[in-house]
Amino acid sequence: MSFETSQTAKEQQEVSWSDCYDVPGPDLFEKVMRFAGTADKARLLFPHFLRRPVCSANVNRVKMTDRYTGQVRDMIMLGSNSYLGLTNHPKVIEAAVEATKKYGYGAGSVSLYSGTTDLHIELEKRMAAFYQCEDAIIFPTGYAANVSTIAALLHEQDVAVNDLYNHASIFDGCKLSGAKIETYAHARMGHLERVLQENCGDDHGTLVITDGVFSMEGDVARLDEIVRLARTFNARVMLDDAHSLGVIGPTGKGTAEKFGLQGKIDVTVGTLSKCLGGIGGVVAGSAELVDYLRFYARAYFFSGAVPAPVIAGSLAILDIMEEQPEIRENLWQSVRYMIENLSAAGFKLCKTQSAIIPVVIGDETKLKNMLRDLTQAGIFMNYVASPAVARNKCRLRMSMMAGHSRKDLDYVIETMEALGRKYDIL
Ligand SMILES: Cc1ncc(COP(=O)(O)O)c(C=O)c1O
Repeated sequence: MSFETSQTAKEQQEVSWSDCYDVPGPDLFEKVMRFAGTADKARLLFPHFLRRPVCSANVNRVKMTDRYTGQVRDMIMLGSNSYLGLTNHPKVIEAAVEATKKYGYGAGSVSLYSGTTDLHIELEKRMAAFYQCEDAIIFPTGYAANVSTIAALLHEQDVAVNDLYNHASIFDGCKLSGAKIETYAHARMGHLERVLQENCGDDHGTLVITDGVFSMEGDVARLDEIVRLARTFNARVMLDDAHSLGVIGPTGKGTAEKFGLQGKIDVTVGTLSKCLGGIGGVVAGSAELVDYLRFYARAYFFSGAVPAPVIAGSLAILDIMEEQPEIRENLWQSVRYMIENLSAAGFKLCKTQSAIIPVVIGDETKLKNMLRDLTQAGIFMNYVASPAVARNKCRLRMSMMAGHSRKDLDYVIETMEALGRKYDIL
């Protein structure tokens, strides 16, 4: 009997995606069929919040196909991680086009064989200098950088110590490594200390892993405390600075710069997929660490290299970031303006310190209805619900970008206020 026919309408309504994960039984596709029921339902009822096709560059204003009318329309984009909005900057496009002409559009190989171009070497050097480290290595994605680096460094006897809110790729790398996985409550340094006390020892290694900016909360890790505690217990520190690059620190060099710890973090992970506008991951550290990763981090060996046009685009964005710090300042003005106005209106915001502004709604039906209304009003935001966050903390997740006009920001604030009143959230 299929899931559709074996459930009542009410039960079906209450099935969440996580209920389709642990489905025991001899047929592996039972979970697939169960999910098909809920996914269909979600698609039918809420076509406005996932996989909405963008038909233009993903910058402040985008063109999107309206699924209700089939018409292409303008939307204000508050759901992209390209925080500096540079992905279609003329210099970036020119760099990528020139690289395409010279190198072709694909890398044709993994990095360890023929996938590395002179541009890759240039970007590695550039990223090493950016993080004040001796060397850097480029991975196919930030996800692959986290998974492969952790699995290369930790083995069965070792311990990974994680902030509970670390990115999924960090937990996946920990699982793959076979190491013991310990977590501490989000940002609770007393808890981290206890975990280290209980888990550090002379017969194994310990790696404390933290996001720099936490992607669902927007807050910044207490890196100074984390480094101090790790040193006390002779553990190493790995920092995933995916959302910090270009945003956090006096010159946008990330969380270590904010805390005056540049060059002092054992392993720093960055990504080309957010501020740097493309795709790819970076790991920076000592020359010895990077050499080790070039041979033992499996995604470097067993997955294709980032294509040269993307590398060229990232290099161009690094140039623009250096030449025009006012772009980052503009981003921060918009972030502050949005936080001030939404807080004044009475919205419950997480304690963000970054370009990610989570607006807690707390009720999934209201969240979905709000998102539908925002979409109809021409505003794109992201939807975050269980299991990514607790059900009663489901939220709208706004990612701010440099270059939004004050008129657009005011329109978003007015629309949010009207919807906050409509759904009794304020
Ligand atoms: C904190 C964090 N780390 C790593 C990643 C993975 O980066 P990438 O998109 O380059 O695979 C993400 C992406 O969402 C992220 O948010």
